[in-house]
Amino acid sequence: MASRASPTPPSSPAAPTPESIAYAGELIGAGRLVAFPTETVYGLGGNATDDHAVAAIFAAKARPTINPLIVHVADADQAAAHGMLDERSRALAHAFWPGPLTLVLPRRPDCTVSRLASAGHATVAIRAPAHPVARALIAAAGVPIAAPSANPSGRLSPTLAHHVADELVGVFVIDGGPATLGLESTVVDATGPVPMLLRAGALDRAAIEAVVGPLAAPDNGAPRSPGMLLGHYAPRRPLRLGVKKVRADEALLAFGPTPLAATTVRNLSPRGDLIEAAANLFAMLHELERCSCTAIAVMPVPDHGLGEAINDRLRRAARGH
Ligand code: TXA
Ligand code: MG
Repeated sequence: MASRASPTPPSSPAAPTPESIAYAGELIGAGRLVAFPTETVYGLGGNATDDHAVAAIFAAKARPTINPLIVHVADADQAAAHGMLDERSRALAHAFWPGPLTLVLPRRPDCTVSRLASAGHATVAIRAPAHPVARALIAAAGVPIAAPSANPSGRLSPTLAHHVADELVGVFVIDGGPATLGLESTVVDATGPVPMLLRAGALDRAAIEAVVGPLAAPDNGAPRSPGMLLGHYAPRRPLRLGVKKVRADEALLAFGPTPLAATTVRNLSPRGDLIEAAANLFAMLHELERCSCTAIAVMPVPDHGLGEAINDRLRRAARGH
């Protein structure tokens, strides 16, 4: 009897071939969800203009519907069909797209993005990702793709395809290998006179400020990014930050050339490089939360450059447990 190739089981990630990307584009067109790689973290995507697909994203993640989603587009032209870009947001898009920057923009009156994706706000968060698979998927789908990070709400973000497949069973996942940046995009509110940093992320503040000048801090009474108010990144083990000495029952998340002594150690960057540390952060937390330790001790990470976003995620992970 002639054997036939068995179809890819939905729970095992598919290689990023033209066929798998075309299939994923069809799924999105049909209102279904697809997990796909971006340069920051894996996203769980659906047609941003389809209320049912957007509702399915919230349901799959058990995400509170007060927390709006990022819409992924090909470029600034596609962004301009949905959000209003002023001179500063155009300069930011020009400087950093495609790449790890999300702009919160006023919704255009004729914006076709589901209002659920905006969580009822008059704004829409948009980014043009750089990852070739994400870009190919956006082209194949032919619609903007709403995509939060592909983790159950409140859990660690996924930087490997198997992180997604382990936690979101039954979702079609395209495996693009490790997310190279490893931290979510930087979210900037570009609706007011001075752009405001809502979420530190993979694009560091200094790069943005070099283009538009000092960013406003998100504590001057303006609405914050709702997601930042919620519990986040809770690993399965408690985190202890800024440690100088590791307890016997703790695993160690180290940083730099002189790690403390511990039985189980992951080093974010033995050479003390914050870009490397960002890329390793979530994958190492995923590994350590599965070890037999009772807690994860974390060495201090400097707060400059990408350290701002790394320390933000570590603080949330320490609080979120
Ligand atoms: O790198 C990323 O941004 C990844 C990849 C998949 O693109 N996506 C991601 O999405 O991190 P998510 O849903 O995990 O985080 C989106 C953040 C949340 O903090 C949310 O509150 C904020 O963006 N956000 C989305 N729309 C917003 C809006 N209209 N106004 C203010 N904040 C918004
Ligand atoms: Mg997330």
